Amino acid sequence: MRLRDKIAIVTGGASGMGAATAQLFASEGAKVVVADLLESEGVEVVSEICAAGGAARFQLLNVTSDVAWDSLVLETIAAYGQLDILVNNAGVSGSHPDRLNIDTWDEQMNINAKGVFLGMRAVIPTMQKAGRGSIVNISSISGFVGQRFVHMGYNAAKGAVRLATKAAAVQFARDGIRVNSVHPGVMPAMRTSQLTADPEVRKKMLSAIPAGREGRVEEVAFTNLFLASDEASYITGIEVPVDGGFLAM
Ligand SMILES: NC(=O)c1ccc[n+]([C@@H]2O[C@H](COP(=O)([O-])OP(=O)(O)OC[C@H]3O[C@@H](n4cnc5c(N)ncnc54)[C@H](O)[C@@H]3O)[C@@H](O)[C@H]2O)c1
Repeated sequence: MRLRDKIAIVTGGASGMGAATAQLFASEGAKVVVADLLESEGVEVVSEICAAGGAARFQLLNVTSDVAWDSLVLETIAAYGQLDILVNNAGVSGSHPDRLNIDTWDEQMNINAKGVFLGMRAVIPTMQKAGRGSIVNISSISGFVGQRFVHMGYNAAKGAVRLATKAAAVQFARDGIRVNSVHPGVMPAMRTSQLTADPEVRKKMLSAIPAGREGRVEEVAFTNLFLASDEASYITGIEVPVDGGFLAM
């Protein structure tokens, strides 16, 4: 088991790549806290993990609230005694039809960028005390390049995640904390996707991918697993695209 005795928090764990990551981590021996705004979906993921013989609990979390983050860490320690892994995965899509909308910019920076910072801020003191920890921040190919169907606030927020990851990696490496970013390409549409959920738009997006298909949530979950595990013990501050070759072009 690759995560035996590890305690992991996965934000956005109620859906998509977060749910796949929570399930994979549990199957590899981690006790997982599924943290999300979506309670019934999150509880369902926890039930599936427990039915498969794993250990998990649900915690309601809005990643934009520092107070909610502090309670999440306290409750995780109370329930499981330690905290080894954080996957900062929660996010909202930027494929808004009005690509010059001001509120979308604010929403993107607040949830997709500040939410990731607040997560790191909340877990790092506990990881410092323990002298170990692994943080995986979910960015996107949008953290590298601009895209026609995506609000620039999404690119800016995902770019912020990419660089905040490197800053945290450099600042906390001597505390035994590793921080890396994962950059999914075109995956199944997010719950909040608008333009990029349109089948015609998706056809155009897929035609630009060397692999010729969208990614599967498990393909991102396995990347998260490697970075979260001790197999990656000398890897910190890197960015890993999981994009079927999109960024190689
Ligand atoms: N789907 C894609 O094509 C794609 C591509 C690249 C990167 N990503 C990124 O991957 C991550 C996961 O996306 P997904 O495809 O699984 O999407 P999804 O919509 O299926 O899941 C996102 C989860 O985040 C939760 N969430 C949203 N805002 C939250 C908040 N304020 N507090 C707590 N939880 C919140 C949602 O409730 C949901 O459960 C996101 O960060 C996304 O930006 C997605």
